[in-house]
Amino acid sequence: MFEPVQNVRCFHLFGVLLFLFTSTKIAEIKSEEILAKDMNFKLPSGDLMPMVGFGTYQVRGADLIKSTLDNALGAGYRLIDSAAAYGNEKDIGAALKELLPKYNLTRKDIFITTKLAPHDQGEKAYQALETSLKNLDCEYLDLYLIHWPGVHGVNSSSEENKKLRQESWKQLVKGVKNGLTRNIGVSNYNVRHMKELLANDGGVKPAANQVEWHPHYHQPELLDLCKKEGILLQAYSSLGGTGNNDLLTDARVKKIADKLGKSPAQILLRWALQQNIAIIPKARSKKHIDENIDLNFVIPEEDMKILSSFEQTKYAWDPDTIA
Ligand SMILES: NC(=O)c1ccc[n+]([C@@H]2O[C@H](COP(=O)([O-])OP(=O)(O)OC[C@H]3O[C@@H](n4cnc5c(N)ncnc54)[C@H](OP(=O)(O)O)[C@@H]3O)[C@@H](O)[C@H]2O)c1
Ligand SMILES: *[C@@H]1O[C@H](CO)[C@@H](O)[C@H](O)[C@H]1NC(C)=O
Ligand SMILES: *[C@@H]1O[C@H](CO)[C@@H](O)[C@H](O)[C@H]1NC(C)=O
Repeated sequence: MFEPVQNVRCFHLFGVLLFLFTSTKIAEIKSEEILAKDMNFKLPSGDLMPMVGFGTYQVRGADLIKSTLDNALGAGYRLIDSAAAYGNEKDIGAALKELLPKYNLTRKDIFITTKLAPHDQGEKAYQALETSLKNLDCEYLDLYLIHWPGVHGVNSSSEENKKLRQESWKQLVKGVKNGLTRNIGVSNYNVRHMKELLANDGGVKPAANQVEWHPHYHQPELLDLCKKEGILLQAYSSLGGTGNNDLLTDARVKKIADKLGKSPAQILLRWALQQNIAIIPKARSKKHIDENIDLNFVIPEEDMKILSSFEQTKYAWDPDTIA
């Protein structure tokens, strides 16, 4: 009489253990297949672009750049995201000269992205590309992006924006032909801007579109278009951006983080990766830098759904305002 009850208890305990074991196991097996630091997207050029990169907005000054990139390369990041507008290209170039040998790396082992500033749109774009290349002190860029569909000093509703960004693209195509950059792409392009470019790409399809993307702002239609066209969507401000803790302190994010034994930042980053979206978290502290590439776990489908159902509130500038 006593035995069956015990058996049931045993079975329950066993069931719980089995569940815990298999659920971690599933997570581990999937992650062991490929570590976040080794995840790549194959670009049309054949180049492999890391899915996890390192953002450098507001990381400025030779010393800070050097210590931050030292930590980033040490942690396993191989993609560095800069922009002419960030004012850190020269310091990144100088730091890499010193740091690559330290990690037994050469130029081809890393992926450098930088961006065309909105005041250099149009015919000036080619020269701006040359300047960025010189600042970064390397022979070629891996990816050069049009930072923004608009043009500095031009009324956002003016058709002039369209004309100038199309001219920029022509210059970027020339940059590819002349070996200045291996790949070209865009940033902050919405569906309308993308369709316009795809209809007139001068023979070179954009490799990537870097856009704001986090649980409080995502654009499924844009993701669908990019996937259909084989264009990589790369998320920025995955953590909400500098000085904004809304997502990092969100109770729903924290609950999932606690459940999976991860930090809120890791949940936000893994949520994007699991949609095949690339990420470029920015961090200055070593703890954050290490954490943000340690993403070898799986968010269960029900939690992915919760994270994808947040109310939408955009944080960054809005490309829809640009004609
Ligand atoms: N194309 C564009 O228009 C555009 C726009 C915005 C950004 N971006 C690119 O995307 C990159 C990332 O976006 P973002 O810089 O806006 O912001 P983000 O990556 O969303 O957030 C960065 C902030 O989060 C903090 N943080 C980082 N890791 C953390 C962690 N594990 N736990 C808690 N806090 C953490 C950082 O603090 P600490 O620094 O103190 O560690 C920093 O204040 C930029 O650096 C830039 O390269 C591009
Ligand atoms: C770099 O390579 C040298 C020689 O093969 C080796 O001794 C050293 O440990 C390596 N350093 C790193 C950081 O991998
Ligand atoms: C921009 O153009 C729109 C439409 O032509 C006009 O209504 C608006 O006043 C302009 N804004 C500026 C700042 O010139």
